[in-house]
Amino acid sequence: MTIKFATATQAPSSAQVVAIPVSTDGAVPKELSVSRKTLTSLGFEGKVGQTYVIAGEKGAVTVAVGIGESTKVSTEALRQAAASVARVSESFESVATTLASVGRVDRKSAAQAVVEGITLAAHRYSALKTVDKDQSKLTTVTLVGSAASAAAVNAGIVRGQVIANATCMARDLANMPPAYLTASKIADRAVKIGAETGLKVEVFNKDQLLAMGCGGMIGVNRGSVEPPRMVRLTYKPAKGKGAKKTTKPHLVLVGKGVMYDSGGISLKPSDPSHAMMKADMSGSAAVLATMSTLKALGCTNQVTGYMMCTDNLPSGSALAMGDVITIRNGKTVEIHNTDAEGRLVLADGLSLAAEQKPDAIVDIATLTGACARALGENMAGVLGNNQKWIDQITAASERTDEKLWQLPLEHEYRKMIDSYIADMKNVGGPDAGAITAALFLEEFVGNVPWAHLDIAGPMWANSDAGWLQRGATAYGTRLLIDLATNFKRP
Ligand code: BES
Ligand code: MN
Ligand code: ZN
Repeated sequence: MTIKFATATQAPSSAQVVAIPVSTDGAVPKELSVSRKTLTSLGFEGKVGQTYVIAGEKGAVTVAVGIGESTKVSTEALRQAAASVARVSESFESVATTLASVGRVDRKSAAQAVVEGITLAAHRYSALKTVDKDQSKLTTVTLVGSAASAAAVNAGIVRGQVIANATCMARDLANMPPAYLTASKIADRAVKIGAETGLKVEVFNKDQLLAMGCGGMIGVNRGSVEPPRMVRLTYKPAKGKGAKKTTKPHLVLVGKGVMYDSGGISLKPSDPSHAMMKADMSGSAAVLATMSTLKALGCTNQVTGYMMCTDNLPSGSALAMGDVITIRNGKTVEIHNTDAEGRLVLADGLSLAAEQKPDAIVDIATLTGACARALGENMAGVLGNNQKWIDQITAASERTDEKLWQLPLEHEYRKMIDSYIADMKNVGGPDAGAITAALFLEEFVGNVPWAHLDIAGPMWANSDAGWLQRGATAYGTRLLIDLATNFKRP
């Protein structure tokens, strides 16, 4: 997709679609040559993301796109409106719009939001279609604005494209079938992407994980013929000229990378909806995508990313109920359900993260059906051991419109994961599953400020809506990019 800026006089009259923002109040832009009364009678009120298509002369199309109340136009509204523009224009090649010029938000953020909305709504995972009727044809977008806004809009376009393209990459990875993207294959990709985006990449194989005492990774991997991989990505900001030699704030991201979750010996029932368990590595995909943007975005913080990659399969060598494994930090875990595997691989990753003594840790994982039950597909759960850190994450969530809801890390429930034989078991009771999973993870972070994002609900979309496309959503990628680039020591 080519996205560029133009002033109204430069704007190509050749754009096949012209999308004109209309608020619920105030005057209707005269380019639409239609009255408010007519629009209203046609059912178009200007609500965020609403569209009304007006066929023009010579096949040209004008679209009215709703942006809500004029004084309340936020980046969130612009992202949604832009996504609607991409959806109504998908059978055309080019669109021009003044969307990035409305609202009271700064022009750079407005342009970024518009680029994100258009790019994410136009994205399809089409690699496996030999005949593809669903593909969006949109290739050229022109953001029309005043000459004075050119620099800001252009900067927003660049930032929006870096972020949206990384998000689309994470979606592609999560949509890939299990045999197309094994642990070793995602590690190979991380090596390539890291080399292209200025990261140090270290890949750890099964022998190395054994030697490092990563019993969670080894245990979960036991049932598979595919070897595990842990990937550590390191981003260090360029040293500014004459800058004092102070250490930069250090953030560590840890992503669950279960390439396919069959449940293991605790096999999931044969429900076709479990095809989406290929996306149980969405946390790792979000970590890789985030890391890949940091240099381009000029991130001034130090960021480390861990991808904990293995599949979870049953076989004669698989982990059994009653087995006890030892995690990297020395703690022992009795297995009560091999389907609670995400916390086992995260435990090793969090232990390694804590050993680096960073300023904060955040993990991202498609961890519990319980969280999806409680919060649904629109938002992730967030839990952690430091409220200031959670507040920082909530602020990033609001800026990116990737919704979160905080759940309590209720220590009274810690006894639910007591084991009579080991330090803990890997499942609690039937209740508060998202909380007992987080209490389990807390055992591995020492006293580092830590937060856990449970993305089991929003990792998958069952239908197209706004900037979400059916399939893997890459939820959390934009949030983590915002978090990493704006990170402050909590
Ligand atoms: N990957 C699943 C959680 C999940 C469920 C993600 C639905 C996305 C959509 C996880 O590994 C799992 O199986 N969790 C179990 C935990 C239970 C055994 C304690 C669950 O939620 O049922
Ligand atoms: Mn599972
Ligand atoms: Zn899982």
